[in-house]
Amino acid sequence: MAASESKYSLVGDSESRDSDSESGTFLPRSSYQTGPRRRVWPWILHVISFLISASLFVAAAANYHRSLGPAGFDEPGYTQEYSKAVESVGLRHSWQYYGEFAQPSPWRGQPNADVDAAWENITHAGVFSITREQMERLNKLHNTSVMLPPESGGGYMASLEATHQMHCVDMLRKFSYREYYADKSAPFSDPDKLRTHMDHCIEMLRQVIMCSADLHIITYDWVAHVDTPWPDFSVSRQCRNYDSIMDWIHQRTAMTSAPKGLIIRPEGAAVKHVEPVEYVHEGF
Ligand SMILES: *[C@@H]1O[C@H](CO)[C@@H](O)[C@H](O)[C@H]1NC(C)=O
Ligand SMILES: *[C@@H]1O[C@H](CO)[C@@H](O)[C@H](O)[C@H]1NC(C)=O
Repeated sequence: MAASESKYSLVGDSESRDSDSESGTFLPRSSYQTGPRRRVWPWILHVISFLISASLFVAAAANYHRSLGPAGFDEPGYTQEYSKAVESVGLRHSWQYYGEFAQPSPWRGQPNADVDAAWENITHAGVFSITREQMERLNKLHNTSVMLPPESGGGYMASLEATHQMHCVDMLRKFSYREYYADKSAPFSDPDKLRTHMDHCIEMLRQVIMCSADLHIITYDWVAHVDTPWPDFSVSRQCRNYDSIMDWIHQRTAMTSAPKGLIIRPEGAAVKHVEPVEYVHEGF
């Protein structure tokens, strides 16, 4: 364990560091080294620290199981990092970004039917059902919470952050090709609504980036024909399997992201106050 940690710790020379920490961390060197009888102290301290870590581990494991709670708590989007779903669906695998400036991709370039299909594939925001207990634990159970009709599985209407964020990236992409989308995508027909929608997306993505503050490292190389350092954006990292998350959504989808016609505010429902709704589009 110590060896594999030190490999990544940038401290170097794990051998000497280990022997230093044995003698140096708990006791002054002089008292430790005065005779064989004193050497029993490090062992006692080891046993005590082992017992402390073991009990912390047990407490953490108990907490982990509590956080899963009753049935249905193993969904991604619910207490993200601690959920079982993150183990199964959100498992991370090694990946290297395609960071070249002109790297082709199915999602890149002049819009056409293929590019749109590729984006549709990763932005499809399926709505699924979560339980009342999950709503409570999210601290989001209000008398205004939307419930799914029984024929769609009942429970409370929910969707995943990832697909909303991807939708925002797609909106920025479409905005950058807005001549093409002017007559193809509803929000692009009304400049005021479009402005608000775009500013919302920029604000969301700003918060997403500030919140996760990615600390992976970008390195630099010299490259031909350029006399300033050239960044290497092909960063290696551990990534979630987005495909399997999309599969997870598809398996649970109660309805698509356009609930109009499928779910309508009931007569007399309590309503939550939201800031100016005149810019809100139908079905986004
Ligand atoms: C959509 O995603 C699936 C699975 O990830 C893939 O097999 C399919 O080719 C994709 N379709 C498009 C149009 O990108
Ligand atoms: C809904 O809850 C709010 C407080 O959160 C309360 O002011 C309101 O009267 C409630 N409305 C109904 C219809 O129960």
